[in-house]
Amino acid sequence: MKTHFPLVVGNWKMHKTVAESKKYFKGLKPLVFRHKVGVWLAAPYTALAACVEECQDSQIQIGAQNMSDLMAGALTGEISSPMIKETGASFVILGHSERRRIFNEDNAMINRKIKLALRDRLKVILCIGETKEERESGHAASVLKGQLDVCLRDVSADMASQVFFAYEPVWAIGTSNPATVEIVEEIHAMCKNHIANYWELPADRCHILYGGSVNGGNAGNYLKLPAVDGLLVGAASLDVQSFIEIIHQAEDVR
Ligand code: PGA
Repeated sequence: MKTHFPLVVGNWKMHKTVAESKKYFKGLKPLVFRHKVGVWLAAPYTALAACVEECQDSQIQIGAQNMSDLMAGALTGEISSPMIKETGASFVILGHSERRRIFNEDNAMINRKIKLALRDRLKVILCIGETKEERESGHAASVLKGQLDVCLRDVSADMASQVFFAYEPVWAIGTSNPATVEIVEEIHAMCKNHIANYWELPADRCHILYGGSVNGGNAGNYLKLPAVDGLLVGAASLDVQSFIEIIHQAEDVR
């Protein structure tokens, strides 16, 4: 039996204006009323404040999808953690593979972001994942451990309750080729042990979500796994109906 509620996090990526976000929550809020599942949504920066306002009277938490690794400065176009915090957002996704791959973010940069986010009392969802080549060459485990080691450097165990992890194999994101339940269970268990050793905590204190082509058809299979604490959902979170289907499956698993 898991000791905590499952967490279902939507990642809208570069989708939804303020008007579209408001319409979405008008549809979603009346359907999310059971308190057995954590429901979080990562919105674009421009919609954060409006989403927070829209969700004030609900259990839904709002967060950002990225932030700068510096506090302030001459950094045209960047957004800092205090700016995100000020919107009322409560968490930030860091290290998403799209940030790593398209925007050249490395583990050292992600580590700086994590420390700033925690300093500003934002919860963190740290994404890790291996590429297809890394998996096929038998290096998945060492790549993931390496990502964890550098990203968590100088992040103390006191912060453990504020850091959530998402295993998102790069080859499974947006591909309709989700990871098998066997791979997910094996990797989650391995990562939990690795994090637990690092922080000297019991493994069940480390919460890991699975992400990569999750939808209403496969969500339940992952949520049933002992080492899966929730899901990080991209495309299927954009539509209220497909997202609520996943949330309801998380309610049923308990
Ligand atoms: P997907 O994206 O569900 O569309 O595969 C997941 C993610 O990138 O977080």
